[in-house]
Amino acid sequence: MQLKTFSQSDIAGKKVVVRVDFNVPLADGKVSDDTRILAHIPTITALLDAGADVALISHLGRPKGERNMKYSLEPVCARLAELTGWNVKFVPDCIGKKVSDAVTEWKKGEILLLENLRFYSEEEKNDKEFAKALAADFDAFVMDAFSASHRAHASTRAITEFVPSYSGMLINREITMLSAARDNPKKPFVLILGGAKVSDKIAVVENMLRKVDTILVGGGMAFTFLKALGKEIGKSLCEEQKLDFAAKMLEEAKQFGVKIVLPIDVVTAKEFKADSPAHVTDADSIPADEMGLDIGPATAKLFADEIAAAKTVIWNGPMGVFEMPSFAKGTEEVAKALVSATRNGTLTVVGGGDSAAAITQFNMQDKVSHVSTGGGASLEFFEGKLLPGIEPFILGNH
Ligand code: 3PG
Repeated sequence: MQLKTFSQSDIAGKKVVVRVDFNVPLADGKVSDDTRILAHIPTITALLDAGADVALISHLGRPKGERNMKYSLEPVCARLAELTGWNVKFVPDCIGKKVSDAVTEWKKGEILLLENLRFYSEEEKNDKEFAKALAADFDAFVMDAFSASHRAHASTRAITEFVPSYSGMLINREITMLSAARDNPKKPFVLILGGAKVSDKIAVVENMLRKVDTILVGGGMAFTFLKALGKEIGKSLCEEQKLDFAAKMLEEAKQFGVKIVLPIDVVTAKEFKADSPAHVTDADSIPADEMGLDIGPATAKLFADEIAAAKTVIWNGPMGVFEMPSFAKGTEEVAKALVSATRNGTLTVVGGGDSAAAITQFNMQDKVSHVSTGGGASLEFFEGKLLPGIEPFILGNH
C-alpha cells in the first residue's frame, strides 16, 4: 500500500497543520510517557527542514465536547519543548480568532500546538464546518496520527476535503511495517494472540486464519479455548458466550491446516492480586479455586520454539498480567523470543496498546522490527479494515 506523502515543493514556505496523536498519559499535570510525542518528531523535523511553518493538532482523552482543563494539551506543549529544544507556543483553542491571531503573529521556526480538538463535539462527528474551520488558517494538512486513524473524525478525515493533504512519516512507517506483515508475510507466519478477551480478537482471527501457519494463544483469552475443549479452568476468565466461536475456530483451523497452540501449563493464584501466591499447574487441571494469570514455563518454551522457526511474527496481546511481577514472566519470555527472532532476520511486528506497553516495560521495544503506536488502529488494520484516516492517502485508490 503506497500513500501520498509530501515533497519539499508541496510545503516549502507554507503554513502546515499536522494531525498528531498526543493522547499521552498525564500524572500530576505532567506527561508520564513520551513515546507518542517522540514518534512524531521525524515528521515535524522533515517539515521544518523543508521550510514549512508547523502547527500541531491533537486530541487528549475523551472530554466529550466539553472544555475540561483536565484534558488540556498545555502540559504536552511544555514536554515537547523540553524534549526537542524547539520554541513551542501553546494556543488555547483549535479554531477561530485565537488561532488566526497566533498565525498572524507566527515567528519563524516557532511551532504552534493548538488546544484539544475534542473540546468541540463536532470533532468526533466528523463535522464538515468544523473541519473547514480547522483548515482555515493553513495552506496544507499532514496526517501523522496513525493511532487515531481508525476514527473518522473532523481532524482525521473531513479536513482533507478543505486543504491539500498528505500523509506523514509515522503513518508511512506504520503502514509499511504492518502491511509487510499482514499482506506480504514470509512463511512460516506466526500470529500470537493474548489479552483478556476472545471477543476483542474475533475479527482479527477471522481475517488472519487463512493467511497464517500458526496461532499461539495466551493471556486470559486462552481459557475460553481450553474450556471449549472440555478442560477444567477453575476460576480463570471465561467468556461463556464465546465458547461456540472458540470451538468453531479450532475446527476451521484444522480444515485450513493452521496449527493452533494453546497453553500446556499456566501460572495460577487464588486471587487476582500481585501478592497472591503463584503456582505452576497443568493447563488441563487447574484447581477449582484457582485462576490462570500467566502462561507457564513449558508453554513459554513451546511458544518460543514456534517463534524461532517463523519468518514473520505478529504479536497482539500480553500472555498474562504483566503489570504484576509474579505473572509477567510468560509475556517477557515471548518478548525475548521475538527479539532473538528479529536478530535472525524474522520480521516481528508488535501491535500497540497492551503488547506495546509490555515490550516497553521489558525495555525491548527497540529490538524488534516494529512496535505500533496504535492500539485500536493496529487491531482494526489486522482485522483487514480500511482505516478512515488512511484511506484518502492511498495511491491508486481514487
Ligand atoms: C488511542 O489512544 O488509541 C488513540 O489516541 C485513540 O483514542 P480514542 O480511543 O479515545 O479515540
